[in-house]
Amino acid sequence: GDYNGRYRPQVHFSPPKHFMNDPNGMFRDANGTWHLYYQYNPTANVAGNQHWGHATSDDLYHWINQPIALFPPKDNVFVFSGSAVVDVNNTSGFFPNQTNGVVAVYTLAEYNDDGPGPQNQNIAVSHDGGYTFTPYKKNPVIASNSSQFRDPKVIRYDDHWVMAVAYPYDFEIGIFTSKNLVDWTPTSNFSHHGLLALQWECPNLVKMPYIDEKGEKHDDMWLLAVSVNPGAPVGGSIMQYYPGKFNGTHFDAVDSAARIADFGKDNYAGQFFYEETANDDPVFIAWASNWQYTQVVPTSEEGWRSVMSLPRKTYLKKAPRLGWKLINEPYDLTPVRGEVLEDKKDLGNGTVVVDFSDVESNAIYWQVNVTGIPKSGIPDMATLNFTVASPITGENLKGGFFLGGDTPFFIDRSGTKGFDNVFFTDKFSTNSLLTKDTWSMSGVFDRSILEVFVDGGLESATNTFFSTQPLTLLSLSTAHLPVGIKVSVRVDELKSTWA
Ligand code: FRU
Repeated sequence: GDYNGRYRPQVHFSPPKHFMNDPNGMFRDANGTWHLYYQYNPTANVAGNQHWGHATSDDLYHWINQPIALFPPKDNVFVFSGSAVVDVNNTSGFFPNQTNGVVAVYTLAEYNDDGPGPQNQNIAVSHDGGYTFTPYKKNPVIASNSSQFRDPKVIRYDDHWVMAVAYPYDFEIGIFTSKNLVDWTPTSNFSHHGLLALQWECPNLVKMPYIDEKGEKHDDMWLLAVSVNPGAPVGGSIMQYYPGKFNGTHFDAVDSAARIADFGKDNYAGQFFYEETANDDPVFIAWASNWQYTQVVPTSEEGWRSVMSLPRKTYLKKAPRLGWKLINEPYDLTPVRGEVLEDKKDLGNGTVVVDFSDVESNAIYWQVNVTGIPKSGIPDMATLNFTVASPITGENLKGGFFLGGDTPFFIDRSGTKGFDNVFFTDKFSTNSLLTKDTWSMSGVFDRSILEVFVDGGLESATNTFFSTQPLTLLSLSTAHLPVGIKVSVRVDELKSTWA
């Protein structure tokens, strides 16, 4: 693949060529290598002819493209989304002499002359740690006559395996259990919670740490994530999640609320890495696009389409008034951090401009922290804004806080002119849940994608954008802040992982 294109993200994963959608099969092996598979059409820049592409990484930023892992078994049958596990204890019987056997679990989707045919759950076996797979001879492991039954995500719970799988048109997630990854028993269903939209896809069930108000970590919470498409509040596709409890067979949500993982429009079908002995916070990667426009974005000029979100570490927290909240922060960025471009201890009310036109990656990170907020609060007029602009065309990408009563945070990509599409909605906002005594914003800007994190990851927004010229001028500015407040600003170059 050629990673030099003007739109090609330099610290994010994108496919070597052609079209990518959902992350699949994500797991971390015993050597610490992260495996990312993905929905891949290796022959065109639009969806269709689905395979599983594959890439590996030691740090979640530097990726090595690997050969395609799963191929369609015959004409008009495609390999749809799914997951992978490491069968350390040989529960399947496929791995008598090894502890690094990998089983991929995925949907085969058939197409007939008159449209979609049955979707079935299948497995494939890897004896070389996830690089090459052989489909199981007696596939499918769960058969159906339905064209709406897909995206199995398998995890380990005590002495058995658990699969969450979607019945998209029924707005339902089925939970199955198995001792050996081959024989599966349905144990419960979870349906009609939160947003329905038109389909439920790509479920994830994951044990999720909860960090309480005192900073103590609890390990009895779970999270069920469900992606919905089309029909998200901002249009098209989005991921929602339910905090809850899981007992090995049944999931119970804490309430019936709809909670959205990201307030941008480019965060779908996210998956959590499978880790046999996970002691760290769960790591999640989403497909950073939207079915409404993904097949027409202008990156095809460079021979590829779609990028993955940054890897994010996640945990649950209780937020004022709203109750449970999934926190999202970029996974440790140290491996890609370059030179410090700006480091100001106190900006006060002012503007700092960073010209990064000589940063070859055209990728940067910024972090702004506001502390010392007086008890009397912040005036309604107070703002903290960022703009990234092209000095040539004046195109720009903007966002920031209006600190009025509900402290809304906004993102505005309408100032970029490289893509015109009715569904490419350009303004998003959220009501931030500021605790009022601190205030923070960070951003990862990477050629054609911007991810913003508000207040330590309480809110996040993933946004693709397409400008006709590179955006190379960052300004961060504050206004109407009361005296005594301290605003620290730090901007780092991000080094290309593809150069
Ligand atoms: C979600 C999805 C999945 C399906 C895959 C096909 O984006 O529609 O439900 O398995 O994409 O590529």
